[in-house]
Amino acid sequence: MQTDLRNRDLITEQEWTREEIDTLLDVAWDLKRKRALGESHALLRDKVLAMLFFFTSTRTRASFEAGMAQLGGHAMFIDSETTQISHGDTAKEIGEIIGRYADGIAIRQCDWNFGNQYIREVAAASRVPVLNMQCDVYHPFQILADLMTIQEKFGRDLRGKTINVSYAYASSYQKPLSVPQSLILLMTRYGMNVRLVNPPEFALMPDIIDQAKDNTRKSGGSFEMMDDFDAGFKDADIIYAKSWGCWMTTEDKNESAVIGKKYTNWITDERRMSLANEHAIYMHCLPADRNIEVTDGVIDGPQSVVYDEAENRLHVQKAAMALTMR
Ligand code: CP
Repeated sequence: MQTDLRNRDLITEQEWTREEIDTLLDVAWDLKRKRALGESHALLRDKVLAMLFFFTSTRTRASFEAGMAQLGGHAMFIDSETTQISHGDTAKEIGEIIGRYADGIAIRQCDWNFGNQYIREVAAASRVPVLNMQCDVYHPFQILADLMTIQEKFGRDLRGKTINVSYAYASSYQKPLSVPQSLILLMTRYGMNVRLVNPPEFALMPDIIDQAKDNTRKSGGSFEMMDDFDAGFKDADIIYAKSWGCWMTTEDKNESAVIGKKYTNWITDERRMSLANEHAIYMHCLPADRNIEVTDGVIDGPQSVVYDEAENRLHVQKAAMALTMR
């Protein structure tokens, strides 16, 4: 197999083959080992990553910035609000111009029905690879880090493992669909039994559901849709219960808050975790609404792997940058 990923965009892993994703993970394991040993790995010396944010971030910004420094390059933070983007720089102009300054462009643009389209417009105009730091449809680097974390806990062959991808209530804000959508897309390619659990108002995009079903037909495993929160935990190996917005029902913040209030009992707690397999792990991309979405006892408890997930963002992103920006 020949793998040359130079100049490839990573907007969704659906556009990467299974072999390419496995290569990325192989590099991520190697870079994680090198960092643990203190071995230099300056694979992107003198290279620049432009990081364009239209939305707040803690983990994504910090891990891309740290990752570029560890690879010997530089990460340039661009905030849409404090640049001329807020006065009309277009996606095409950003791709053309920033693509001449930098060796890669990473973008977070989560606006509903717009973010993914914006990232693709930048990519069409850019001579350098474009990396999706989260849009309205996908969050590829979060889910690559999640896959790496699951493989650390259960081994590389995940066939037959059951993952519960569930809605959970949160009051903070109407979060994108990108995490559950990327989760069901990637985990169905690894032969897992994927359960998607949500109230009817919190449906995911039908096209994403169809792609997840198609992935399952090709890779084995199963894809099941449920609306009973407790049932989703039963005998699962991986619990990934998080909040997302009811974007397919309404874009109105007030209406969505009223709908969400019907499901305040969708919280991951110790009783529900006890329904899962004894060795089950609890995952969350963070930030979480503590004691609303998940109890402190669970997220800080022995089954939680949330800090390993957050760490693995660093390793998978470094791998993607090293492979695409050389
Ligand atoms: N999980 C995640 O993407 O975190 P941030 O929003 O803090 O970047």
